[in-house]
Amino acid sequence: MANVQINRSIPTRLILKALSVGILTVAFFAPPSFVFAADVKNGEYVFHASGCGNCHTDPGKKGKDARPMGDPLAGGRPLKTPFGTFYTPNITPDKESGMGAWTFEDFRRAIVEGKAPNTAPYYPAFPYASYTGMKETDLQDLWAYMQAQPSHARKNQKHDLKFPFNMRGLMHGWRFLFFDAKSTGESDQSQSAEWNRGAYLVRVMAHCGECHTPRNVMGAMDWGQELAGNPVGPGGKIPDLTPRNKNGIVTWSADDIVEYLSSGMTPEGDFAGGEMAEVIDHSTATLTTEDRKSIAVFLKALK
Ligand code: HEC
Ligand code: HEC
Repeated sequence: MANVQINRSIPTRLILKALSVGILTVAFFAPPSFVFAADVKNGEYVFHASGCGNCHTDPGKKGKDARPMGDPLAGGRPLKTPFGTFYTPNITPDKESGMGAWTFEDFRRAIVEGKAPNTAPYYPAFPYASYTGMKETDLQDLWAYMQAQPSHARKNQKHDLKFPFNMRGLMHGWRFLFFDAKSTGESDQSQSAEWNRGAYLVRVMAHCGECHTPRNVMGAMDWGQELAGNPVGPGGKIPDLTPRNKNGIVTWSADDIVEYLSSGMTPEGDFAGGEMAEVIDHSTATLTTEDRKSIAVFLKALK
């Protein structure tokens, strides 16, 4: 019996050794998406903070042109702009119509560079000019979360854009003139950690400037007037958040801003309406109180 046991121990050791070499080899050669340990919970946090579900889910419509609410992340929400109407694409893990065949690299290129897997440029109605500053770890976590969402097969719908904006190739020129890769994520060492966290939330994830910063005739945000309001929408006049707006949030305390971003209530007891109500419900209300405070610190420091 003793002999048998000794004989057995040799193949067991060999098998274990072979296995460990095998595991190391797999880890070494696996695509990057398997090597990083993604934090799906943080991915969910980034997803809500960034409002991805808001644009990529069709809320449906009542009345004359009634249509039911669409499947989550299956796209189809119409976005009206001065250049025509965009229909958001399907970003579920569906293999045919969604991102099922994408790699993490494809996803990274889309969000921070604004380019499709075939390198065609995206329209800036997709707020990649803000997302471009997203941190690599947040991107990886977001990707892990997105891949874990249910698939829906909804086919993408063509945008309905005015000439010449219907020519996607024009966006190469737009990018050359107006797109500054990574710019929104730059930190400012002369400011506190809280201010920098607020800047990251406002400029990158929650892309507040996409509505609150005025745009030039080519639809690019004018960073020289950051958050100074936009008279033409989306969805009507967007308020100026800088102290130049004497009746604006310059009259609010930091706590007032935190309250507004969590419940939508203003110091006067009114409630946020329209597009801002959606931003609060889907994005800022889901943040931690510390993150809302950081946003308030950043907004209070606007010049
Ligand atoms: C303000 C609305 C809006 C928000 C917010 C938004 N998107 Fe989009 N997204 C769009 C539009 C519009 C397009 C189509 C752009 C085009 O056709 O050039 C798009 C395109 C995409 C694409 C390319 C899909 C494809 O088939 O090529 C991906 C991926 C994507 N978005 C993911 C996201 C993620 C992830 C988030 C959150 C971090 C997000 N989007 C937030 C409007 C939005
Ligand atoms: C989709 C467009 C959109 C985005 C994105 C957006 N806002 Fe707004 N915001 C609005 C609109 C529209 C109003 C006016 C709401 C109303 O009339 O009740 C508003 C109002 C506000 C107000 C109240 C200002 C005042 O003087 O009454 C604050 C503060 C504010 N937004 C902060 C933010 C912050 C911070 C972000 C990013 C986290 C953000 N907004 C993102 C559209 C937007």
